[in-house]
Amino acid sequence: MAYNLLKGKRGIITGALDENSIAWKVAEKAVEEGATIVLTNAPIAMRMGEIRKLAEKTNAQIIPADATSTEELSQLFLQSQEILGGKIDFLLHSIGMSVNIRKNISYTESNYDYFLKGIDVSALSFHKMMSVARKLDAMNEWGSIVALTYMAAQRTYPFYTDMADIKAMLESIARSFGYHYGLEKKVRVNTVSQSPTKTTAGTGIKGFGDFFDYANAIAPLGNATAEDCANYCITLFSDLTKMVTMQNLFHDGGYSSTGVSMEVMTKLGVE
Ligand code: NAI
Repeated sequence: MAYNLLKGKRGIITGALDENSIAWKVAEKAVEEGATIVLTNAPIAMRMGEIRKLAEKTNAQIIPADATSTEELSQLFLQSQEILGGKIDFLLHSIGMSVNIRKNISYTESNYDYFLKGIDVSALSFHKMMSVARKLDAMNEWGSIVALTYMAAQRTYPFYTDMADIKAMLESIARSFGYHYGLEKKVRVNTVSQSPTKTTAGTGIKGFGDFFDYANAIAPLGNATAEDCANYCITLFSDLTKMVTMQNLFHDGGYSSTGVSMEVMTKLGVE
């Protein structure tokens, strides 16, 4: 059911790779809620072709941009404003990639070139996007910017390796940039800390399936799905949350506040 929460708003959605992607669901919901959007992803993701299906469905144009390139990001913001007919009201950063995780390298043995690549793609890209948007004055006042993160930024999950540190940086960038952007332009910046979700990035993590079940057994509401996450992002893009900024918002069915659940105790054989 749609509520027209984003009626007349213009948005840029990064990171929709296939229909499992969290960004895919956000794009669908944003359009259902009355927004017009531009889709973007790395040029290599474009070649896989899936995103075109989403573009058709959401009546959106696709602008390829590598999120590590300020030049390509500038083009993204310039062209998006042209296509959408004005300044941007919301932006979703839904980009994550660790070469150390891909290559199954443990945290203590991290390769530093890969580590730096992960920082650039997954955290600095967020700073770059906002810096470019600010320089071009591409965001409308009271615009809303959201990036997706994971709780490994606060607590240790050994298999999350360098992405834990990278997500901590991403969340810090939201606070730091959020201060300046809020003061200058009333643009708000938040991160949403999402439950484990079965996507390409998620399932690339070793032991993800077991961990997914564990988190589901801890959270009183169970794991939040990609669709639930999209709904939450829509509220953050809407005017109903206009005074929320510089926050890391847990969207995890209560997982982050639960020490242990009876379900897990029972599985351990505790009466
Ligand atoms: P996904 O694999 O569908 O999305 C990741 C996206 O990043 C892909 O579309 C990929 O093409 C894009 N990307 C990679 N390098 C890029 C670059 N250089 N330039 C532009 N785009 C680039 O997976 P998912 O899970 O939807 O990930 C979206 C976000 O959600 C990520 O930040 C991830 O860390 C975060 N997240 C995911 C969770 C999960 O369990 N799946 C849990 C919590 C947060």
